[in-house]
Amino acid sequence: MKIDGTHYRSIWREPSGEVRIIDQRWLPHDLRIVPLTNRAEFAVAIRDMWVRGAPLIGATAAYGVAVQMAADPSDASLAETYDILNETRPTAINLRWALDEMMKVLKPLSPADRAAAAFARAAAISDEDVEMNRQIGLNGLEIIRDISRRKGGKRVNVLTHCNAGWPATVDWGTATSPIYHAVEDGIDIHVFVDETRPRNQGAQLTSWELNSHGVSHDLIVDNAGGHLMQHGEVDLVIVGTDRTTARGDVCNKIGTYLKALAAKANGVPFYVALPSPTIDWTVVDGVKEIPIEERSGVEVTHVQGRSEDGRILSVQISPTGTPARNPAFDVTPAELVTGLITERGICPATTEGLAAMFPDRAGRR
Ligand code: MRU
Repeated sequence: MKIDGTHYRSIWREPSGEVRIIDQRWLPHDLRIVPLTNRAEFAVAIRDMWVRGAPLIGATAAYGVAVQMAADPSDASLAETYDILNETRPTAINLRWALDEMMKVLKPLSPADRAAAAFARAAAISDEDVEMNRQIGLNGLEIIRDISRRKGGKRVNVLTHCNAGWPATVDWGTATSPIYHAVEDGIDIHVFVDETRPRNQGAQLTSWELNSHGVSHDLIVDNAGGHLMQHGEVDLVIVGTDRTTARGDVCNKIGTYLKALAAKANGVPFYVALPSPTIDWTVVDGVKEIPIEERSGVEVTHVQGRSEDGRILSVQISPTGTPARNPAFDVTPAELVTGLITERGICPATTEGLAAMFPDRAGRR
């Protein structure tokens, strides 16, 4: 997508061979582009959220394997790289999916052939992500069109949580792709952006990207969504996901579950946009089986912002020594989900719905 008229992806390879990312820790204040040059840097970039968002984490890991194969293509190096990158973040399944894809291609090859093949597969994973998200946008557009028609062309109000926009993917975003397509289609659309404490991905990233693309939006505090739904101000919710189970339970950024409950209570459709690598066919019960990342309590006791003179500051908001819990994701049970918007189409969040949409993948463990 575009920043000041220039098209960017969130990760790419320069003609020189260098892999670059947008370092998201500095957004929305600074657009900092940094190279990732060795395995350790890739691991830090994922773990410390220089890059984040399930599909982008996967693409970054794939390039991390490729960079390591250029340095040391041995069997031991490949196995060790898989483990190191796989341990960076526990919840988004796209990470393991991308590493498995790399393994499938690289393991049978002789070490001398691995680097070129690894870069080719990492580039393909990135391109496939862009195309899947574009298709998700076209499929989700139908839902928005339908609501717009029913409202006689009046403004369609969408609520979203966290950042499931283009910075969370290679391009387009998942939850934002239908929104961008609706804007291109001339539909009057407005987005309510949950700030998404504690990392504020909504405030820092979603508002930034919507602003960059001239999409009408209001930033709201996380607790405002239920109130807006109760007052008929939200026509639909679209969120992304870090891992969706074979029966359609949806794991996503902490607070998603509360939005789904509020949506159900108020008759607001609750859709989840996801590329198929986000489906974990090996897991059924999301609440019991998905590992939830617990991050530092400092993210809860402190908030980050920019000072007048441009410095990034961390400000303490609770008494010194306050104990804090910081689960980063939650699981929305399938019965609260109206539908899953995938690259192949929209399906019910059920075992049967997913199996009918992906007959070639369902049941594979
Ligand atoms: O902790 P993050 O910022 O990596 O969490 C991101 C999310 O929860 C997104 O909603 C999810 O990855 C879907 S991204 C298309």
